[in-house]
Amino acid sequence: MKIVVFEVEPWERETFKNLERDHDIVYLEEPLTDETVNDFRDAEVISTFIYSEMNREVLQQFGQLKLVATRSTGFDHIDTDYCSEQDIAVSNVPTYGENTVAEHVFALLLTISHRMVEAVDRTRRGDFSPKGLSGFDLCGKTFGVIGTGHIGRHAMRIANGFDMDVIAYDVKPDKNLEADYKFEYVDFDDLLGRSDIISLHVPANKHTHHLISGEAFNKMKDGVVLINTARGEVVDVQALIRALAEGKVAAAGLDVLPEEPTIREEAELLRSVYTRSQNMETLLADHVLLRLRNVVITPHSAFNTKEAVQRILNTTRDNILRFTEGQPQNVVNAVPSRV
Ligand code: NAI
Repeated sequence: MKIVVFEVEPWERETFKNLERDHDIVYLEEPLTDETVNDFRDAEVISTFIYSEMNREVLQQFGQLKLVATRSTGFDHIDTDYCSEQDIAVSNVPTYGENTVAEHVFALLLTISHRMVEAVDRTRRGDFSPKGLSGFDLCGKTFGVIGTGHIGRHAMRIANGFDMDVIAYDVKPDKNLEADYKFEYVDFDDLLGRSDIISLHVPANKHTHHLISGEAFNKMKDGVVLINTARGEVVDVQALIRALAEGKVAAAGLDVLPEEPTIREEAELLRSVYTRSQNMETLLADHVLLRLRNVVITPHSAFNTKEAVQRILNTTRDNILRFTEGQPQNVVNAVPSRV
């Protein structure tokens, strides 16, 4: 089969080596876009990360596509309806980094609670005064988790290690988890009202879009800390800016932002002003957040450890291999018949 692997660094190619014997593989460091698609319209399998354009307009330029193997857990960036209509399978990597992302949650949280950015900036300037750098303890605080799936559970496990009180909300609560992860399921409003720190671990979909809205912020404790490593769209960022301005939210740690792909590159932004329908107000809100002292933002890097990326590559290679052998695995859309 003709396989094209987009957004792949040279060192990552090694994992796909054993596919090269039976298949024609091309590697590209660039993402899939309506330009890069031109040379690969005959691809039968494509593998991408999250910065490729996977909308109908781009996907329909492939004439023989059978599998999209995304190297991510989330697949909200792919038009899966189109893929199902066209009998194209979409596979993901369901678990690779639950510990990795949960560790990043606490990297963000400790950065906030110990004022790490300001503290390190200060010592780099040769200033060793701790004055004005007072932070807060995690021990004894209430940690509220929204979404008790793979990542949410690991975050709760770590929170237990800090002696935090843990509460959680999930649309599909699994009561068996409560004893193992030492937490209590509560309803959504209860979680908002009781948590000192709220950490989001739900997928992006139409039900979770702006789950954290102005109304949700109003129900939170004054001085709450919000951590989002899930997806930018889960939070209404304009409402977040208002909540930060009013002191309702004391600080936020964000690994994800809506309009994230656009914000990555100015050139992409300029192009998109003319060609796409990004919400410019949301984009502006992203830029405001990037400049606030009490907001810590990382560039969607929660997954990015050596170990987690290797697990992603291994599962993706296996997803492709199994598909070519007629036994697809980790398929997330209506299972196509064609192999
Ligand atoms: P998961 O599928 O194991 O868990 C998601 C949980 O959310 C489930 O328990 C589900 O019942 C719950 N849920 C769904 N809709 C909900 C709603 N409306 N309200 C409350 N709960 C709801 O997913 P996992 O592995 O824990 O990952 C969560 C998300 O984290 C992914 O969908 C992805 O978007 C994001 N992620 C971010 C990464 C990063 O680098 N920042 C890396 C990996 C994942």
